[in-house]
Amino acid sequence: MTSLPHLTISRTNQHAPAELEPTSKEVVLTGDRPTGQLHLGHLAGSLRNRVELQERCDQTILIADLQALTDNASRSGDVSAHVLDLVADYLAVGIDPARTTIALQSDLPALAELTVLYLNLVTVARLERNPTVKAEIALRGFARDIPAGFLCYPISQAADITGFRGTLVPVGEDQLPMIEQSNEIVRRINRIAGEQILPESKALLSTSPRLPGADGRKASKSLGNVIPLSAPVEEIQSFVGAMYTDPAHARVADPGAVEGNVVFAYLDAFDPRVDEVSELKARYRRGGLGDATVKRRLVDVLENVIAPIRERRGALIEDNALLQHVLDDGTAHAAVVTSSVLAEVRGAFALARGRS
Ligand code: TRP
Repeated sequence: MTSLPHLTISRTNQHAPAELEPTSKEVVLTGDRPTGQLHLGHLAGSLRNRVELQERCDQTILIADLQALTDNASRSGDVSAHVLDLVADYLAVGIDPARTTIALQSDLPALAELTVLYLNLVTVARLERNPTVKAEIALRGFARDIPAGFLCYPISQAADITGFRGTLVPVGEDQLPMIEQSNEIVRRINRIAGEQILPESKALLSTSPRLPGADGRKASKSLGNVIPLSAPVEEIQSFVGAMYTDPAHARVADPGAVEGNVVFAYLDAFDPRVDEVSELKARYRRGGLGDATVKRRLVDVLENVIAPIRERRGALIEDNALLQHVLDDGTAHAAVVTSSVLAEVRGAFALARGRS
């Protein structure tokens, strides 16, 4: 395989997950739905953490294409088209396939079979009570027309986590109910098996606050308020130019608010010169610092972060064979692990092939 030149991303402001030792026996499992290119919010919230975690843990990143189908079944072409995009994003930010297993969910039939077995352990009432699912149902306006696969995706996600014997799941707070539900399944399986065949998992919450979109709302591709990791400099400029600051800060001399100011949220996440940023904040609060000046600085900071990623990604996206190879390799490795977990769970249910 082509070797991947190392890419350094700024490590300042990047907090090591606090409770982890330098080397750890934790099995880290994360997943992404292939619904588009990753953006700067992903870099701050999860990708930088993963680059760090691969140094000390056994880590798998699962490209959750089956989960993406649960609410995109009519656009399945879009989902599969984004799979290699994700692989390119991972490699471009410094995920090293020699340390991190990158695997494709739909090529791991053991996960689908685990899902089918777990379906027997969870009630519809429990699924409807899952706060994440509840919020998503409200958002999409589902009633009885909810796809069964969508309602059940927490079960499939439990299969993802347990299929790798995951013990540590780095997620945003919105995913905490998923881990709770997965652990309920783990306890039921272990009770049925009469021994502890699966470990429970813990959430690892990112220490950096969730980055807002340019307009201050939730960062989301569909709201058009994010930029991809490979954005050209002109796109960075217009992204920063459109950023919400403080509407009461009309003149340079006026005092301005730093809290809720998107420009400062991004400086906090990406500007390595932390002391200078605190000084800027103080000046902004006092009055005498204009938005244009702070925005100019942010454009430079973001260009420094994005330029090496853009360059790496540009080369990678031309090399489909390499991306496919990385994914095939990771998936083959993952198939061994997930099949062995499936055999144990089948055994717990006294299904023939599990016992042999
Ligand atoms: N639900 C996650 C998301 O929407 C993606 C995901 C799928 C996942 N399987 C996972 C996350 C397993 C953690 C563990 O972002």
